[in-house]
Amino acid sequence: MTQTPENPVFCALDTTDVGRAVELAREVAPHVGGLKIGLEFYNANGPQGARAITDVGLPVFFDLKLHDIPNTVAGGIRAVLDLQPAIINVHCCGGRAMMQAAAQEAATAGAKAPLVIGVTMLTSLDASDLADIGVTRSPAEHVVALSQLAKASGLGGVVCSPHEIEAVKAACGQDFKLIVPGIRPAGAATGDQKRVMTPDEALRLGADVLVIGRPITTAPEPRAAAQAIARTLQAA
Ligand code: C5P
Repeated sequence: MTQTPENPVFCALDTTDVGRAVELAREVAPHVGGLKIGLEFYNANGPQGARAITDVGLPVFFDLKLHDIPNTVAGGIRAVLDLQPAIINVHCCGGRAMMQAAAQEAATAGAKAPLVIGVTMLTSLDASDLADIGVTRSPAEHVVALSQLAKASGLGGVVCSPHEIEAVKAACGQDFKLIVPGIRPAGAATGDQKRVMTPDEALRLGADVLVIGRPITTAPEPRAAAQAIARTLQAA
């Protein structure tokens, strides 16, 4: 994925039910730029399930968060390349050689190469969790340092919280893609997301892709919810 889609919203299809995921995907397709499947969906349904989602015709982010030795991560990427993911991710904590191997493997798909991005620090972690695993720098410093390592290792971007957009863009440049979850339209329920931002605010700060799940998928009318979000972005 060399170009960011015109509509930056990727709808997270967090379900193990392929039929429901396809139904949702088709319903929101006119008003989103892409779809996201994660570990839950992929582990339950494998490549066949993923194919049902890519067949909808939108770019698909495979949120598989790979983390293993370089050879195994490269193999994991090779194994899904024929499904033509638009975006795929690996954990930055896997280190430089692992990220390089991921980027090199993805590049073998030529023009159809997915954008490989890094997971810096899971948003479920805080400073005390970092201390538990021996990381003494602050969460903000950790995210920026891992983003810089991801860039130096050949990745095209990272996943980050809306509150990290400006610091990561400043450290890694405007071309380094930021894939941003934790997005809530004004007035929407936050659920388990603690530090949220509206879609237009995140876009204005420099987000390239907005990952939005429940505000669309659990709305009484998912298509209308996606359309309403798209409208706020056109006005932004
Ligand atoms: O429903 P909601 O909009 O909170 O969904 C956000 C999606 O982004 C989920 O699929 C979640 O797993 C994912 N995600 C996240 N925070 C991260 C990384 C991924 O919310 N740091």
